[in-house]
Amino acid sequence: MTTLEHCQALDARDPLRPLRDLFTLPAGVIYLDGNSLGVLPSHVPARVADVVTREWGQDLIQSWNRAGWFDLPRRVGDRIAPLIGAGPGEVTATDTTSINLHKALGAALALAAQRTGDSAADGGPASPPRRRTILSERSNFPTDLYIAEALCRQHGLQLALVDAPQDIAARLAPDVAVLMLTHVNYRTGAMHDMAALTAAAHAAGALAVWDLCHSVGAVPVDLTAAQADFAVGCTYKYLNGGPGAPAFVWAHPRHVSQPWQPLAGWWGHARPFAFTPGYQPAPGIARYQCGTQPIISLSALDAALDVFDAAAPLGGMAALRAKSLALTDLFIALVEALCPGQFTLVTPRAHGQRGSQVCLTPTAALPAGCAYAIVQALIARGVIGDFRAGDDAQPDILRFGFTPLYLSHEDVFHAAHHLQGVLQKQEYTRPEFNQRHAVT
Ligand SMILES: Cc1ncc(COP(=O)(O)O)c(C=O)c1O
Repeated sequence: MTTLEHCQALDARDPLRPLRDLFTLPAGVIYLDGNSLGVLPSHVPARVADVVTREWGQDLIQSWNRAGWFDLPRRVGDRIAPLIGAGPGEVTATDTTSINLHKALGAALALAAQRTGDSAADGGPASPPRRRTILSERSNFPTDLYIAEALCRQHGLQLALVDAPQDIAARLAPDVAVLMLTHVNYRTGAMHDMAALTAAAHAAGALAVWDLCHSVGAVPVDLTAAQADFAVGCTYKYLNGGPGAPAFVWAHPRHVSQPWQPLAGWWGHARPFAFTPGYQPAPGIARYQCGTQPIISLSALDAALDVFDAAAPLGGMAALRAKSLALTDLFIALVEALCPGQFTLVTPRAHGQRGSQVCLTPTAALPAGCAYAIVQALIARGVIGDFRAGDDAQPDILRFGFTPLYLSHEDVFHAAHHLQGVLQKQEYTRPEFNQRHAVT
């Protein structure tokens, strides 16, 4: 089994090691929840303080121009673009993933309607497509399904859900207008082949909309190479933008100027300060903005992205991916050696199908329903992961996210040994670890 000395030796020759010093990691914490909320980069508070005290406090309204507040969504979008294989001017950082998905999916449905001749190809508001189905997975993140469900109700469409990834291609029948998928599954850490599924969607005459929440900053993404149609994602996970940080939206350049997105607002207008009563969409991705943007949060995100500038000369996303796979491989091997027979690995072993997290479910060797308490006992030991409840179709899950920017092999070694300790001492039986909090 891997020793502590071996892990320390791996850390000593880790090219990304200097990046850990860019973060404020609380003492005694091994943070395996960067797939939910990333760690604070140390320089972000100073940027936020400057935005609040100087740009807002002193310069007031002039900062929309002088401090570049007005362009900030697109400037931040340009910094996210290289991480997802998009070009300059193709991404804007705005609103939430849920809201951006509503816009992207609404636009994709409008495009589908144009293609089937159901609405005039003048880029006007959406009308329902003749292809009447949005196809997704039952295990997709619920907000994605709720957004799709609402659009289906609005347009008289249906949402078709497959139970297994291998069923997607077969369900791409001529009724499908849009294939809407999350690249890396939030519960399992399983990663789709974006290029293959986008090609399958296109071959079936459908459009492909991707949610990159668990991919951006964690795994290499190339939307352009995959010929994807639309993408959205959040920035508070692997991009470390902070709680509720603005999300992003991308439309392929071949689509960006076509239909209206359904949330037309003045920030997406071609000339917002002309204050005309009629809507005229801005050229390019700016039309995917809606109302006034959260400048303080956007500024925090802008500063947080400096970390990726620092990662670029150290190997960038390729180096981050290599380390992420090494960390997740190490965690899997240690857990299997230290807790034999007590967990089933939910995350795929194959590198090509694995995101940057490891999910475990307790076997029958452990008491039923103990997953939540195991996570709470780990948190009490300073190892922060999280829990996702199961249902009839899916088991309870312990989720561990591995952010290669700030995690070491030594962290992984200690985390696995703490997990073994929780089981050996049956800490999950303690009443305080069995009280459910609102956020799990
Ligand atoms: C795949 C996925 N999509 C969407 C969301 C949530 O989006 P929002 O930022 O709108 O809450 C999450 C949140 O964890 C997610 O994992």
